[in-house]
Parts: sequence; structure tokens; C-alpha cells
Amino acid sequence: MDELTQIAQAIAVCTACPLARTRHKTVPGSGSPTARIMFIGEAPGYHEDQQGKPFVGPAGQFLDELLRSIGLTRDEVFIANVIKCRPPNNRDPLPGEIAACAHFLDRQIAAIRPRLIVTLGRYSMAKFFPGESISRIHGRPRRQGGVIYYPVYHPAAALHQPALRRMIEEDFKKIPELLASLDTMAEEPPAETATQLQLF
Ligand code: URA
Repeated sequence: MDELTQIAQAIAVCTACPLARTRHKTVPGSGSPTARIMFIGEAPGYHEDQQGKPFVGPAGQFLDELLRSIGLTRDEVFIANVIKCRPPNNRDPLPGEIAACAHFLDRQIAAIRPRLIVTLGRYSMAKFFPGESISRIHGRPRRQGGVIYYPVYHPAAALHQPALRRMIEEDFKKIPELLASLDTMAEEPPAETATQLQLF
């Protein structure tokens, strides 16, 4: 059995936090096990909890639209969340829930080894950019090791707020360029590349 299936099976029987008592289905994530690009959201909502799949509600439709706009499909990427079970009434995840679940996402990242990690929203951003604010750093890639981390707004937040919607659409437009830069990027990029990518 492959590593991602093993992780999904461990998630399915996890009782490490109280969300295990209220969830219908666990939502481990889905997509290509060899994806170069991984999108990480916050937590399953109502639809995801019903279906066991990430981003299948209205935010997911918008994410599909954003992926299409840059010529990507779900099959080519991997989509996961910071936590794998729905918080009741879609409340924000609690620190204890995030901590209890973190090792699953870490294992998924280690198995997939994506070259570009796009964080969707504040909670996912906080895992890689602790203490930062999304309004300040969205759309600004940061490279560490051979991986580019790229924070953008959450599609659910951007869905009904025209200003945020424009920003997430603009931020997505830079993704093809980031992917292309991975092919030419040496372990430590030269100064011009760093400027071009607005690395910080
Ligand atoms: N919002 C998320 O962060 N993740 C989902 O899977 C769905 C909505």
C-alpha cells in the first residue's frame, strides 16, 4: 500500500482530538501522489465532511476555476488541509486541533515532496510563515531548500469580496512562472532571480 493511502487510513481512524466525535467523514486530501504543486487549505466544511473530499463546496468550485485559469486540473496537483476533520459549524480550528493533526500533513508533504506549496488562507500560511499577516505577504513567494512556499488568500474569503477576489486571481496568475522557475533554479538562486521572484 502506498504511503498516501496509509496516511489516509490512519486519518480515518484518528481520535486524537474531539473533532473525531462530530465528523461524518475524514478528509485526508486528494490528487496526484507525485504532484509538483500542493495546495493547502484550512479545514473541511459541510460538503467536504459529507463527501470525504477536499474543496468540493462553493470555495472548491472557485478553486477549480482558479486552477483552470492557469491551465491546471485537480489530477495534476495535490489538495489537502491543515486539519482533516470539520470543526462544528465551520468554526476556526483550535490550536490543539491543529497541533494534533499536524503530523498527518507533514507526512503527506514528505511523501509527495512538492516543489511548490501554495497556502490557502491564514491557518495554512501560519504553518510556514508563523507570525506573518496574510494581507502583507500574500502573493510573495519564499524559497527554502528546493521548495517555494507561496501564500495566497483563502478562496472562501475571496469568493464574495471583490477586492480579495481580484488579489487571489492575480496571485494565481504568478503560479506558472513560479513552476517554470523551479526547473532552472539552483539550490540557492542568484540575486536577480531572488528579486524577480520577490523572495523575502
Ligand atoms: N475550505 C477549506 O479550507 N478546505 C476545504 O476542504 C474546503 C473549504
